[in-house]
Amino acid sequence: MDARADSIEYGGPLGPAARDVAPALLDWYDAHARVLPWRAGPGANAQDPYRVWLSEVMLQQTTVAAVIPYFARFTARWPTVEALAAAPEADVMAAWAGLGYYSRARKLIECAREVAAMGAFPDHEAGLRALPGLGPYTAAAVAAIAFGRRAVVVDANVERVVARLFAISSPLPGGRAEIRAATDRVTPDLRCGDFAQGLMDLGATVCTTRNAKCLLCPLADLCAARATGTPEAYPVKPPKLAKPERRGRAFWIMRSGAAGDEVWLVRRGAGGMLGGMRALPDDGWTVRGDGGGHAPIPANWAVAGVVRHVFTHFVLHLEIAVARLPASASVPGEGAWWPLARLEEAGLPTLFARAAALVR
Ligand code: ADE
Repeated sequence: MDARADSIEYGGPLGPAARDVAPALLDWYDAHARVLPWRAGPGANAQDPYRVWLSEVMLQQTTVAAVIPYFARFTARWPTVEALAAAPEADVMAAWAGLGYYSRARKLIECAREVAAMGAFPDHEAGLRALPGLGPYTAAAVAAIAFGRRAVVVDANVERVVARLFAISSPLPGGRAEIRAATDRVTPDLRCGDFAQGLMDLGATVCTTRNAKCLLCPLADLCAARATGTPEAYPVKPPKLAKPERRGRAFWIMRSGAAGDEVWLVRRGAGGMLGGMRALPDDGWTVRGDGGGHAPIPANWAVAGVVRHVFTHFVLHLEIAVARLPASASVPGEGAWWPLARLEEAGLPTLFARAAALVR
């Protein structure tokens, strides 16, 4: 018996013995693992690190359902890390459009290029952690899932399962250190990738935020939160603060071109929000917060409506102003006329895709 697991009396009288958790969870995972395109399946000991890494980057802040079609398109177009490393940055950014959190896509390219130059992904957590865009979660997930290393993998689903298993009552975010320590204590030395994905699947399908299905849970008899009678009270969340609101204006500038109507698109600066993505010109709401409303060109503007978009730290109300210019008109500054008939190929981030839908 592993001395670490044997000596643990974590969580006081309500907490489970750490050694009981992994066998129960792995048995459940063998029978109930979700079939997902980046997985080789329970018990597989060789998984392609490129596919594991790509999926884990895409899954940060994004649901499994949303990621599946993007993962399929990316791996069909760029089947290896070398292929992704050789891709033009603009193509990757456009293929990422709609997934959000665009700094992930810039780091993805940077990382692919670094790995291609190294010849392979590092096969351990510390080496992975040194790559662009790999935080503690992603490095641990790739080390465990692709390379079978023992690593402590804590995402939001794992956090919920473990907080309940031990009835950890320190509110988030402060409680995270305690949850991580508890996850460390229950993580086995073998089948660490299956264990991590088992906790993720349990959190996604059984130990859900609301309507937890304790009757189906392989850990129910071990679960301290279930014993309290209110499992859904864990993890304890801090009171929710309202997000600040920002206002701004974006400009839909049209003209008729040789091949039909065209709209003026710009590319956003690399450093800021939605950096590197194609976009409608706007009044600088990302910088000043209240926009300012100034149009890039004098014209007969009409307001088409307002798009409300929720970012991580604020809610944006973006007014969409529309003008049609004469056929040969140009707009000052960098940008390009884009045919409306091919707008889907521009790779607009969701905010501007919604603005386009509003106008059209
Ligand atoms: N969420 C993040 N990584 C995941 C994975 N490997 N399987 C299922 N859900 C996940």
